[in-house]
Amino acid sequence: MNNELITMAKGLIDEKLPLVSNLSNLSSLIKDNIKGTSWAGFYLSNEMHDELFLGPFQGSVACTLIPFNKGVCGKAAYTKVTQLVPDVNKFKGHIACSSTSRSEIVIPIIKNNECYGVIDLDSDDYDNFNEEDAKTLEAIADLVSILF
Ligand code: SME
Repeated sequence: MNNELITMAKGLIDEKLPLVSNLSNLSSLIKDNIKGTSWAGFYLSNEMHDELFLGPFQGSVACTLIPFNKGVCGKAAYTKVTQLVPDVNKFKGHIACSSTSRSEIVIPIIKNNECYGVIDLDSDDYDNFNEEDAKTLEAIADLVSILF
């Protein structure tokens, strides 16, 4: 695990701030500290917990609405399990927001057994993310869950 990144995330999160402020700074922190990341940000669950909408992010323009169980983000939200995708072309139903994206990792944000959103990272390189990134980002998702 990248304990340094987790410590920085802990230092940034301030429960007194609006959610959008916390998530905006976190998306920047994550993009700057996980190598090879072209896009990092949040998709948040609607009230019914059946659709994700685009939240704060760093990177190029992205799709705005993703139903639970569609694409990599929707699968992470629906199954509540981290999705580590070394080659997006081999993931059935991958939603291509960017034609240059090659690998992706999506971590669900869980509180009281409900998915409140996901952290999504894309890379223009194949196989950019690994298990260590997954553990680090899962720890950050746990920190974020207190904000919901
Ligand atoms: N590729 C994602 C969609 C979001 S973008 O990567 C920012 C997916 O398949 O869910």
